[in-house]
Amino acid sequence: MSGINLSKCVLVIGATSGIGRALALAIHKLPTKPTVIVAGRRQNRLDEILNEAKGDAEGAKTLHAIQFDASAKVEDLKKFVAETVAAYPELDTVVFSAGMQHIFDFTKPEEINLDFAAQEINLNYVSIFSLTTLFMPHLLKLGRPAFLVPISSTLAMVSAGRVPGYCASKAAVHSLSMSLKNSLKDTNVKVMEIMPPLVESELHDHQGTTPALTNIWLPLAEYTKHAMDGLQRGDFNIVVPQNQALWDKFEKERVDFDPMATGAFINKKA
Ligand SMILES: NC(=O)c1ccc[n+]([C@@H]2O[C@H](COP(=O)([O-])OP(=O)(O)OC[C@H]3O[C@@H](n4cnc5c(N)ncnc54)[C@H](OP(=O)(O)O)[C@@H]3O)[C@@H](O)[C@H]2O)c1
Repeated sequence: MSGINLSKCVLVIGATSGIGRALALAIHKLPTKPTVIVAGRRQNRLDEILNEAKGDAEGAKTLHAIQFDASAKVEDLKKFVAETVAAYPELDTVVFSAGMQHIFDFTKPEEINLDFAAQEINLNYVSIFSLTTLFMPHLLKLGRPAFLVPISSTLAMVSAGRVPGYCASKAAVHSLSMSLKNSLKDTNVKVMEIMPPLVESELHDHQGTTPALTNIWLPLAEYTKHAMDGLQRGDFNIVVPQNQALWDKFEKERVDFDPMATGAFINKKA
């Protein structure tokens, strides 16, 4: 067995819609029957997910929900992590799917909402950094495989002018994933970074662009199957075949580059 097939208890942060919800339900259906905890802010959505599972009495026992705001202050994140680890000592996998996207146009700087820009980088990147740090003592102590599953984006590799803050936040998540992979390489904690392309979800609803995007996005069910295949294999980077050329061009060599081994950090004349 490999990857998420080894997981006994999976927390999905940002599981009330879109990719997080679909992955949580697909993981819950794995033959290995892991416990799955869905987390997000909207209690009505969490209730819906639990209600849908009620038809299957056995399955319902392993599906749980926690209302949680990943943008909360550090003290609240600490409380959430402590309570979650106490309630679920088997927790071995955290999927970071909470995310937001804002359109910013630098040719109209007076229209750029700097509070939105700060919220975007805080949720998309800082919350992952903070929660990873806070869950790490528990994961390192488990004595068996544990997984961190950050969700970055194709936009970590290529920058789109319309969503500059989002691209920067996803590039940061990608960089963090690679740093984690390096620093945790001799431990039980492994990283599986999911890099979705444009996928059917609610991410763009508040921008009013969803109707146009429905013509070009990957259907959620199709994407979920692809992502689950990668998670089950235990892939470090999960990239759709359509974006393999981008990956090969920009990231392939970077991902296994070891700056210490090559002396890239040493500042001396040749
Ligand atoms: N769809 C795409 O095209 C695409 C492409 C590349 C990457 N991604 C990434 O995939 C991830 C999932 O996005 P999605 O496309 O599935 O969008 P989505 O349908 O809008 O889902 C976003 C999820 O994040 C949760 N969330 C938002 N703010 C939160 C907060 N403060 N605390 C906790 N949860 C929060 C939402 O739940 P609540 O509102 O209930 O809190 C929701 O469950 C994001 O990281 C996104 O950037 C998406």
